[in-house]
This record gives sequence, structure tokens and C-alpha cells, in this order.
Amino acid sequence: MKQLLTAKELEEGVDQLAARLRREYLGRPLTVVGVLTGSIVLLADLIRRLDLPLRVGLIQARSYRGAATTPGELTVNADLLPDVKNREVLLLDDIFDTGHTLERLLTDIRALGPISIRSAVLLRKEGRSEVDFEPDYVVFEIPDAFVVGYGLDFHDAYRNLPYVAALDDEIANVDLDELPPPGDCDPRDC
Ligand code: IMP
Ligand code: MG
Repeated sequence: MKQLLTAKELEEGVDQLAARLRREYLGRPLTVVGVLTGSIVLLADLIRRLDLPLRVGLIQARSYRGAATTPGELTVNADLLPDVKNREVLLLDDIFDTGHTLERLLTDIRALGPISIRSAVLLRKEGRSEVDFEPDYVVFEIPDAFVVGYGLDFHDAYRNLPYVAALDDEIANVDLDELPPPGDCDPRDC
């Protein structure tokens, strides 16, 4: 698979996001809400760089169904969300594609009465948005391709890649029980 972002580039991008957040929320208690499951790697890397009074919550949104790489109907599970009333919230997701997932989650969380809510994403796909807002923080703009790694999956595979890669067309079309490893390279060297 073709690497779009190396582990080193990801590390530098997350460093920069953390530096911005530390400046902008200086000393203010923050609740970071990660969107399951794609944000888990970013969440773990980001929160360890934030020396703020910090709480972490999770919310689950699922939009990809069956063999499709286009979104289906969105289901949200907020059972793992802590009380966000009168809190400052940062909603964190892996990727902003059409924007419908973040739009729905922002609406749901706003209804719970936070003091403020902003959104941050690792990746934003160019030319795909179908909503009329932008995430407050975008770490990388990427071309319109289906990407995996660093938390992003194709049918729950490849989340563990330490880099972000564009999914090969051959893989997008194979039997899902036979997803091949990402390539010949050992991830620790990629
Ligand atoms: P949106 O609602 O179209 O913005 O899609 C956002 C969600 O779709 C993300 O949280 C991802 O889980 C998933 N998604 C969108 N594009 C990709 C991709 O290229 N690779 C993996 N997941 C994706
Ligand atoms: Mg997701």
C-alpha cells in the first residue's frame, strides 16, 4: 500500500496539534471525547502531550456497513460519554470525509449543555464535504482516497499500521476473510 503519511510525519502533526491546544486551553479543564473506533490511536498519542486538567470520554459512531466504502446510516452510542454539562469539550475523530458524522455528534453533544465544543480531526479529505462547517482543528489535508492505518480501518483491518496509507484497489475488492497484510515491509521499519 502507498504510504501517504509516515509515522514521523504523524508524530510531528500530533505535536503541533497538542501545542495549539495547550496554548488555546491554557490551564482550563478540558474533556476530550474520542470517536470510536478510528480515533483511538490519535487519542492516546494526543492526550499524553496535553498537560491540562484533562478528562477523556468516548462516543461511538458507525456509518460504514457491509462491503461498502461509502457511508450508510449513522448509529451513535453515547453510553461511554461522561457528563459534559458545563464542561469545555473537544470532539476528536480520525477523519472528516463528508462531515455528516461530526455534524451529528456535535449536535448530540451540544444538546447536553457543554460550555463550549470544538472539533479536531487528524485528516480532512479534500473536496468531499457535504456540510456547512469546518472542523476547528485539522492536522493533515489529504486527497480523496480511502485511507487506512493509525486507527483508520477497512473492515476493522489495518488500524494498527503506524503510518497512513491509501488502500490498494485490489484489496478493496478481495474477499474480506482474506485481507492480506499491508505489504512486505515490517511496520517497525516503514
Ligand atoms: P463522514 O461522516 O463522511 O465525515 O465520515 C467520517 C467517518 O467515516 C470517519 O469517522 C471514519 O470512520 C469513516 N471514514 C471516512 N473516510 C474514511 C477512509 O478513507 N478510511 C477509513 N475510514 C473512513
Ligand atoms: Mg470513525
